Amino acid sequence: MIQWTEELATGVTEIDHQHQELFGLINNLLQAMHEGKGKDEIQKVMTFLDDYVVNHFGMEEKYMKQYDYPEFAQHQKQHQNFTSNFSDIKKELETAGPSSALVIQTQRKLQDWWVNHIETVDKNLGAFLIPKF
Ligand SMILES: [Fe+2]
Repeated sequence: MIQWTEELATGVTEIDHQHQELFGLINNLLQAMHEGKGKDEIQKVMTFLDDYVVNHFGMEEKYMKQYDYPEFAQHQKQHQNFTSNFSDIKKELETAGPSSALVIQTQRKLQDWWVNHIETVDKNLGAFLIPKF
C-alpha cells in the first residue's frame, strides 16, 4: 500500500484532499491486484482519472494563474506530460488489453509520477499559496 504522510502535504486543504483521494484509488487498485481482480479495477481507475486529471490540474492551474505563480509554466508542463502519457497508457490498454504486466506497469507509473510530482512541484506550489489564502 502507498501511505499518505504529512511529508506529502502541500498545506492547501483542497489540493491535499484530492491527493488523498488519489492515493485511495491507487491503494484500491493494489488491493484488487492482490485479489487477482486488477484487470477489472484498472478500467475503473482509468475512467476515474479521466475526470480527475482535468479537474485536479485545472484547480491547481486556476490558483497559479490567479496568484501569478512564477513557476506556472514548468508546473503546467508536468501536468501536460502526465496527460499525454496517460492517454498513451489508455490507448495501450484499449488495444493490447489489460495484461497483468501492463496493469502492474500502469500502477507503478501512476504511483511514481504522483508521489514525485506531489513531493516536488505541488509542495512548492503549496508553500507559495498558503500565505495568499
Ligand atoms: Fe500539480
